[in-house]
Amino acid sequence: METLYFKDNQLHLLNQTLLPIQEVFEAYTDYREVAKAIRRMVVRGAPAIGIAAAYAYVLAALEYQGLSQDAFASSMSTAAQTLADARPTAVNLFWAIHRMERRLQSLPETSGAPRALLEEAKKIHREDVEMNRQMGQLGAKAVPWNAGILTHCNAGALATGGYGTALGVIRAAHAEGKVQMVYADETRPLLQGARLTAYELTRSHIPVTLITDSMAGALMAAGKIDMVVLGCDRMAANGDFANKIGTYSVAVLAKHHGIPFYTALPVSSIDRSIADGSKIVIEERPPEEVLGFGGIQTAPAGVSVCNPAFDVTPHSLLTGIITDRGILYPPFRERLRDICSEIL
Ligand code: MRU
Repeated sequence: METLYFKDNQLHLLNQTLLPIQEVFEAYTDYREVAKAIRRMVVRGAPAIGIAAAYAYVLAALEYQGLSQDAFASSMSTAAQTLADARPTAVNLFWAIHRMERRLQSLPETSGAPRALLEEAKKIHREDVEMNRQMGQLGAKAVPWNAGILTHCNAGALATGGYGTALGVIRAAHAEGKVQMVYADETRPLLQGARLTAYELTRSHIPVTLITDSMAGALMAAGKIDMVVLGCDRMAANGDFANKIGTYSVAVLAKHHGIPFYTALPVSSIDRSIADGSKIVIEERPPEEVLGFGGIQTAPAGVSVCNPAFDVTPHSLLTGIITDRGILYPPFRERLRDICSEIL
């Protein structure tokens, strides 16, 4: 399943706001429009917005390539800032932009910048898919036979360069014959579980049952859930992590019922500059997303709304962290430091 690709100097994004009803790719040539598309969640999911921003940075280089060296450098830093301002929580966005900026700085002259930057963006994209496949293989070992698996939001091919993180683990475990049923939380308010995860798993012929977010506890109590695996938007140095709002509630429920609880993530989701989850900036989204859905009002006009897009789950609720380097178990701070120093 393809979420985004770059062809003929255009970035093509599958408009995820229209799924599952319509599958429409939109072409972008202006990085500012890509920043708006990230904000509107045409493309969403932590790794996918990082990859989209990397390609958007290439669009900026194409636009500014005729400028003098100084004007080019200052325009590119404006573009980087515009893209970084699109959404605040998923660290992959800033990680990808910094990597692109470093590549630009490494070039002897700006004339070859668009081509070199496109190669770098494609590399980021390719590496993401490879990491997902690897974490799928390794993470599948943690999946018990005949498993009922609960997931929240969408951490699949649509949220990444392809294959998926948490859904990558589920895909690999399904290929081994281990998955009995995936339970997908619908994930209010924007329904990424209903619109995207249920769509993705159905298309991949992986058995999926859609539930409302409030049903997770009852299913756990009924013995239907053997494991929880979901994604991550930013992990602090101690293993605390931000993911879609509702993740924390699922983690507490899993702990209460003694159910293994995992997050799956690429290294681009680790932010070692912050010691713990209290430093993660949580995006607050418009009240309209909670006041109704699809243009239909479901709450009284003018009622006060709280709409944080993410919450932070403390590392103490995690059984393990699935990465492309293997599954990390406590103590997480030390294990995260080890894999980050292997890479850098
Ligand atoms: O607001 P979204 O849809 O971008 O949130 C997505 C999530 O929370 C995902 O679980 C996370 O990005 C991990 S995706 C591999």
